[in-house]
Amino acid sequence: MNPDVTRRSFLSGAIAGIAGVVATLLGLPAARFLMGRAAATSNTDGWVRVAAADSVVPGRPTLVTATVEKQQGWVAAQTQVAAYLKTEDGAHFEALSNVCTHLGCRVTLQDGLVGGNPGFFCPCHDGLFDIDGAVVSGPVPAPLERFEVMVEKGDVFVRTI
Ligand code: FES
Repeated sequence: MNPDVTRRSFLSGAIAGIAGVVATLLGLPAARFLMGRAAATSNTDGWVRVAAADSVVPGRPTLVTATVEKQQGWVAAQTQVAAYLKTEDGAHFEALSNVCTHLGCRVTLQDGLVGGNPGFFCPCHDGLFDIDGAVVSGPVPAPLERFEVMVEKGDVFVRTI
């Protein structure tokens, strides 16, 4: 045995080494968890399932909603996604936002508004959009926003971000 190494210094070194190993074993998973939470911005890539494709009646926009959980750093929040889905053939879909482009009120589909055809009406300031979301009248500055749509295995997904 090395005469410079005392029992006390050997035990001190061994305890420090064991403490270091324990700290590393406990700290790495916690650090990984914390870094992962902070880096995450969403639990989805923006695609949200909103309906079964066969639940949308061809020729008439259908209001669909879904709840999405989004992670922004430490904060998890649930938001409601809503869209009017349109299809003519049950295979190809369009999705229009139900948020008015004037000041953000919710529009509703009503019959007979635009030349006897259905249109989207905003009750806040009498904004009016046609069935394709184009501006008809009122203070609205732009058409209704369109979302990307995809159909997969009979389900309709919209991308809202
Ligand atoms: S918010 Fe829709 S017309 Fe003003």
